[in-house]
Amino acid sequence: MRILFATSEVFPLVKTGGLADVSASLPEALCRAGHDCQIILPGYPRAMAVARENNATALACFRQGQYDVTLWKTTLPGTPVTLWLVDCPVLFDRHGDSPYQDEHGQDWWDNAHRFQLFARTCAMLALGQLNLSWQPDVVHCNDWQTGLVPVFLRENPDPPATVFTIHNLAYQGLFPHETFRALALPDSLWHFERLEFHGRLSFIKGGLVYADAVTTVSPTYAREIQTPVLGYGLDGLLRHRSDRLTGILNGIDARVWDPNQDTCLPHHYSAGELDGKARCRSALQAELGLNTGSAPLLGFVGRLVEQKGLDWLLEILPHLLKRGCQFALLGSGEARYQQPLQALARDWPGQLSLTLGYDEALAHRITAGADLFLMPSKFEPCGLNQMYSLRYGTLPVVHGVGGLNDTVFDPTEAPPGKANGFVFRKPGPAALLAVTERALATRQHPDSWRQLQKTGMQADYSWNGRAGDYLALYRTLMSDQ
Ligand code: ADP
Ligand code: GLC
Repeated sequence: MRILFATSEVFPLVKTGGLADVSASLPEALCRAGHDCQIILPGYPRAMAVARENNATALACFRQGQYDVTLWKTTLPGTPVTLWLVDCPVLFDRHGDSPYQDEHGQDWWDNAHRFQLFARTCAMLALGQLNLSWQPDVVHCNDWQTGLVPVFLRENPDPPATVFTIHNLAYQGLFPHETFRALALPDSLWHFERLEFHGRLSFIKGGLVYADAVTTVSPTYAREIQTPVLGYGLDGLLRHRSDRLTGILNGIDARVWDPNQDTCLPHHYSAGELDGKARCRSALQAELGLNTGSAPLLGFVGRLVEQKGLDWLLEILPHLLKRGCQFALLGSGEARYQQPLQALARDWPGQLSLTLGYDEALAHRITAGADLFLMPSKFEPCGLNQMYSLRYGTLPVVHGVGGLNDTVFDPTEAPPGKANGFVFRKPGPAALLAVTERALATRQHPDSWRQLQKTGMQADYSWNGRAGDYLALYRTLMSDQ
């Protein structure tokens, strides 16, 4: 099967979160299963630099509106997967690490133009309009940045099948009506059953309305987004499309995230041989300037945004610090969370380490070195960090929502052999604190602790089983056509 995987992020070239990891690991898993899955990505500076190093070939040059576009073909570093880059320097050759924002954290003013051009190019490639020798059977789109791809494909009488995956419904690509005009989209699309959403242009609606199938990244989140609380006003549309909406749990790249061969770690270990984990823990304490010794070490890695439950975390941190816990925190995001965390780091040297910024290798070392990994997310479409920490024998403490609910099982709710972490269900800091206290109490019982660790470490979170769900979906869509 030939699949074009359209995405705005792919690890290791450009990453703001889990979308990048999935956009690398799922196409690779599909290729390893014998299919021809090719990725298409905007030509951001890092991606273009890699393409140049790899002597990439320019396979098409064309003009789209006022823009000159070149389509380059290369491979995703470290994989056999073909990568197409949509090179349009005016739109994509921008400073900074974020693909969406300037260095001050402001969205680029022309994001709608940038991702419209990207979507248009994806559609042209998929429809064979660029005279390339390759055309996909299925186009798999991801998040709002690719929402217009199914819209443009439907302009053609015989389009390939389309799948649209929601990685996070909170990000919808909303723009004012003037932008709709500036993009020169057909007037017929300005309708509440198409792209209009409460007087604004919604990119994500393109995917939700026009794709042949809509998926999201866990079964629980697929149910949650059909309710008013987590549907962001789109729950009605999603219920309407419920026969076409499924939740397929994300997999992880089990080679990048393997404690037995992780090149970011100072020591290696496995479920049968955990000594290396204790050594990673001591090394992490030394690296971060935390006191040595056996005090519980709790890790957090993630975007510092509302979604991740940082206000709950900030409420409970002082209690846990007073009772001697240590924290290794890594993240970047909003000042309203950064500032109080910085104050705590100043007040509790030796017990709370805060690293602001993005550091892939440190994320691995925290995942390995911590005893517990905190994910008190208010909502979590899937979440990858809990699966990384399970694999690393670091017990996750999670709010039982979205993909966290589908991957972490509490000993009070699940039998031995399935239980692998700690889950709180009532939203709020009180329940988070209570479950963390329970986790700390369990740490006093090494046999129970070891059992939970082993269950997590021995489970398979890779794409091995899960990529097959996408293949089955693609096949159904192709046979419908
Ligand atoms: P989300 O996509 O909502 O941010 P996920 O759990 O799916 O959440 O994926 C987050 C990914 O981004 C993980 O690979 C995590 O390790 C990584 N990550 C997030 N913030 C940072 C950071 N500051 N430094 C390094 N890695 C980070
Ligand atoms: C989003 C979600 C996260 C998910 C990731 C990959 O960023 O917030 O829960 O794991 O996408 O699908």
